[in-house]
Amino acid sequence: GSTLQDAAAESGRYFGTAIAASRMSDSQYTTIANREFDMITAENEMKMDATEPSQNQFSFSSGDQIADWALQNGKRVRGHALAWHSQQPGWMQNMEGSSLRNAMLNHIAGVAGHYQGKIYAWDVVNEAFEDGSSGARRNSNLQRTGNDWIEAAFYAAREADPDAKLCYNDYNTDNWQHAKTQAVYNMVRDFKSRGVPIDCVGFQAHFNSGNPVPNNYHETLQNFADLGVDVQITELDIAGSGTSQAEQFRGVTQACMAVTRCTGITVWGVRDTDSWRASDTPLLFDGYGNKKLAYGYVLDQL
Ligand code: XIL
Repeated sequence: GSTLQDAAAESGRYFGTAIAASRMSDSQYTTIANREFDMITAENEMKMDATEPSQNQFSFSSGDQIADWALQNGKRVRGHALAWHSQQPGWMQNMEGSSLRNAMLNHIAGVAGHYQGKIYAWDVVNEAFEDGSSGARRNSNLQRTGNDWIEAAFYAAREADPDAKLCYNDYNTDNWQHAKTQAVYNMVRDFKSRGVPIDCVGFQAHFNSGNPVPNNYHETLQNFADLGVDVQITELDIAGSGTSQAEQFRGVTQACMAVTRCTGITVWGVRDTDSWRASDTPLLFDGYGNKKLAYGYVLDQL
């Protein structure tokens, strides 16, 4: 294949990007996105603050703009994200206890219900674990509603959209040796053993010089897949430039391609200038829309 999506499709995989509704009037942006990518994630527009700005008053216009564009162009959509400690609407941020638990479940029903039948996979819960060596859950208002909040979110998502794959998504879970990786692995293993409806694990894959692509990435992805879930690279970006950046993109692509149940890769934006960390130039196209060295390294592996 001569595009990322065509090359990925040769092995039954997808190649995706995050899209921002605010950039969709830029024709260079939509031209590249339409040509190269066949899986679309809304960068912010399906998050809790965007979709439920006032309690029980849902707002889907920006999320729909992205989903409709994707579906009209024959692409699939990853839903991101139903329950997260970050980017909560103001009304939710200071809630606690059963009222917060019920608000979360109502949110999941409302959002996953609205998009029912249109979503390939939902990031049901995002970033629920602590960084560092503790392996603990992140202390968030959602966590304080009870340790079962994650499985409650998955059951609610399954009920609202029975056909969507349901993912747990996190960062710094790439290196098999890290405590956070082990903690998420143990949760997924427990969920699978108890029949909690989880189908996939998303690896955000935000890399930089302090947090490089690990040599054991393939091992990590394979170990999760062996639990009976799909794995996906969900938000890939790698700070840097030139050969060193390109080689790291190659390493991530090789790791996914080596794991049968690694179903696809999504990069977190189109051009470097579209990135949430634009100064890191972490994407596959430069600010002029030109393919970077990393683009060719990725394409070669697909
Ligand atoms: C980021 C977006 O890219 C930014 O535009 C926004 O200001 C903050 O969130 N982990 C995630 C994504 O799961 O939702 C985040 O996206 C990046 C880190």
